Amino acid sequence: MKPIAKFVSKSGKEVEIHLPTLEKVSELMIFINRLTYEDTFLSLTGNPKTLTEEETWVKNTILNMKADRSFVCWAVVDDKIVGDCSVNRGGTRDWHVGKIGLMVDQNFRQDGIGRYLLEYVLNQAKQMGVKIVTLDVFSDNIIAIKLYEKLGFKKYALLPQGLYRQGKYSDALKMYKNL
Ligand SMILES: CC(C)(COP(=O)(O)OP(=O)(O)OC[C@H]1O[C@@H](n2cnc3c(N)ncnc32)[C@H](O)[C@@H]1OP(=O)(O)O)[C@@H](O)C(=O)NCCC(=O)NCCS
Repeated sequence: MKPIAKFVSKSGKEVEIHLPTLEKVSELMIFINRLTYEDTFLSLTGNPKTLTEEETWVKNTILNMKADRSFVCWAVVDDKIVGDCSVNRGGTRDWHVGKIGLMVDQNFRQDGIGRYLLEYVLNQAKQMGVKIVTLDVFSDNIIAIKLYEKLGFKKYALLPQGLYRQGKYSDALKMYKNL
């Protein structure tokens, strides 16, 4: 499948932006499981994902995108998935609200990929008619919070000790941005 966009990262890497496709399901599994093993500031933890689980995920995502419920894109370098960003809208009463997800492979961070992906998805969300985007972030995920603030997200709530990772509770910070 052809990329929907391309850019050159800060360090000079050619980065392609792709829509989800079953062709890349093995690459997706490798990418997701690297993040799972890293046990970072994401819900990904515990057992590695199987190819079947990832196939189901891709199929559902394609259906959700057709129904305008989601938009997901991947950053691809040398045919490998190195980043993923998504927006998933609410149901009936909060169809205008979209929840953001963002992750970049640890070997490809600090190179502008996260920011590019997020800006791309915010633009798509706006075109889909999403009016407000929200996200939940570990309050000790300083790098992510700084990125979100740079792109105009504001803090609106904190659930004390709302997240648990690596034997420790963190506050769950909730942020939003009007599109
Ligand atoms: C948060 C995350 C997506 C950022 O992705 P990234 O590709 O490294 O981000 P970028 O390189 O585009 O950097 C974005 C901004 O953050 C800053 N930044 C990135 N890494 C940084 C670091 N280690 N220290 C200080 N600042 C940093 C950059 O200066 C950049 O600002 P700029 O665009 O003004 O230069 C990535 O760190 C990640 O996947 N982390 C693990 C999963 C995660 O936390 N996801 C968010 C869940 S809410």
